[in-house]
Amino acid sequence: MDISEKLKELQELHRRAEEGGGPERCKRQHDASKLTARERVHFLVDEGSFEELDKFVEHRCVDLGMANQRVPGDGVVTGYGRIDGRLVYVFAQDFTVFGGSLSEAYAEKICKIMDLAMKVGAPIIGLNDSGGARIQEGVVSLAGYADIFLRNTLASGVVPQISAIMGPCAGGAVYSPAITDFILMVKDTSYMFVTGPDVIRTVTHEEVTMNELGGAVTHNSTSGVAHFAVADDRECLATIRELLSFLPSNNMEDPPVRPTADPPDREDEKLNTIVPMDPNQPYDMKEVIKVVVDKHHFFEVHKHFARNIVVGFGRLDGHTVGIVANQPAVLAGTLDIAASVKGARFVRFCDAFNIPIITFEDVPGFLPGTAQEFGGIIKHGAKLLYAYAEATVPKITVITRKSYGGAYCVMASKHIRTDLNFAYPAAEIAVMGPEGAVNILYRNELKSAPDAEKFRAQKVEEFRAKFASPYIAAQRGYIDEVIEPRMTRKKLIAGLRMLDNKRDSNPARKHGNIPL
Ligand code: HXC
Repeated sequence: MDISEKLKELQELHRRAEEGGGPERCKRQHDASKLTARERVHFLVDEGSFEELDKFVEHRCVDLGMANQRVPGDGVVTGYGRIDGRLVYVFAQDFTVFGGSLSEAYAEKICKIMDLAMKVGAPIIGLNDSGGARIQEGVVSLAGYADIFLRNTLASGVVPQISAIMGPCAGGAVYSPAITDFILMVKDTSYMFVTGPDVIRTVTHEEVTMNELGGAVTHNSTSGVAHFAVADDRECLATIRELLSFLPSNNMEDPPVRPTADPPDREDEKLNTIVPMDPNQPYDMKEVIKVVVDKHHFFEVHKHFARNIVVGFGRLDGHTVGIVANQPAVLAGTLDIAASVKGARFVRFCDAFNIPIITFEDVPGFLPGTAQEFGGIIKHGAKLLYAYAEATVPKITVITRKSYGGAYCVMASKHIRTDLNFAYPAAEIAVMGPEGAVNILYRNELKSAPDAEKFRAQKVEEFRAKFASPYIAAQRGYIDEVIEPRMTRKKLIAGLRMLDNKRDSNPARKHGNIPL
């Protein structure tokens, strides 16, 4: 036998691996508006940069007729490539092979690239499209999942982990993504659930469709499990590329810098009018953010969940910043359970990956009500407080209008190690709003006053004049500077430059105990 025979044998193996579950199943994948695993990898990474590993790995199961059903690669494409020239590790589950279900050998392939990513310090991207544990393999496939979960956990905070849900994902196929940093879901073709509609019908007698139970809209807006909802596979892959452009490759690096033509000292008069003087009039905080960041480009994360808080990435003078902002246009910008959890997780991500945190604050307080109290707003609100307090990256806060009560403390106040605290001149910083304060302080007088409403109005005015301003906080140094709104961008950039070499730490310990 000469080398040409050997090459032919190799080519045949490549062909079989690339064919996946066969043309018929690939066609079904396309008919369902889904790309195949290999097509997804192709569109994700820089052209021609993908190097596949373990392409000829096969499962070892001989039960239930599996001995004669083998596909090289065993239903998952793994390897490494480049995104904008930067190294990434990728696995793409192939639904055409046993429904993308996970076998022992398949899990080993994923673990291998996760181990490499940890050693080298590069992001891990999982393109998920899987029916969960491969039923024929029994406990061995459960063990494979647990091996992956362990690595997800150990990699958390070390390298960014991104999960795209690009098909039905059940059982174990959802828990690995749940441990990762960001989850993207494709509308109408992706689903996530621990147990599907059939099991639910049997156990709880509830009728629910796949889409209602675990579709992109459900997980982006109701459960908050997913961070992005995208229209199709291509948009999903493009969104991952953009997300990575804001992130460092690992926790020892700083995020990449994108030089910009947007002047660092750009002022914008619009900012002087976006925030209404009337404390009860809503406005869109995203307008403030967009005016301030480079080229007005704000990459929002978790857009559809807890819309009373806004989180996402932008750049200031080319440097990535994480932005957390109360949103007065939704629930008056109050903090509730969902907003607290959303904000806390984002703050912790930024802190783990050396991304400075900019907070835009306009918050009347925590949302009152039995639903919130019974739901545990105390422990969930504490998460946000904890996350801000433990964060050691540069932190800058801008109070645009209201900062009342516990929310003042929570939203990156000076007292929890925020480096720079700015306030606009019309900011109101107090224990509570004037109306609430007067009702408590003058309860008896209000009962006996001949003209209670006039008395109330007079006291509200007195309170507002005395407390509803940034100057008492500024007199104490809790606010470093009261700034003209139009100067926000240049003040933030000057602050970030000053903080460039910031080093801060937390006490030595195994880990803290964030109120989960
Ligand atoms: C082996 C599987 C499979 C699985 C699907 N297939 N899931 N094979 N193990 N888990 C196979 C099917 O037999 C079929 O093979 C092919 O994949 C496509 O599946 P279909 O059912 O035809 O596709 P569709 O109608 O699109 O439905 C997709 C699905 C459904 C919703 C994912 O297949 C399904 O419900 N699968 C089971 C999901 C599940 O309960 N998994 C176990 C979870 S337990 P052919 O040869 O016909 O193409 C788990 C434990 C881990 O994961 C827990 C850790 C915490």
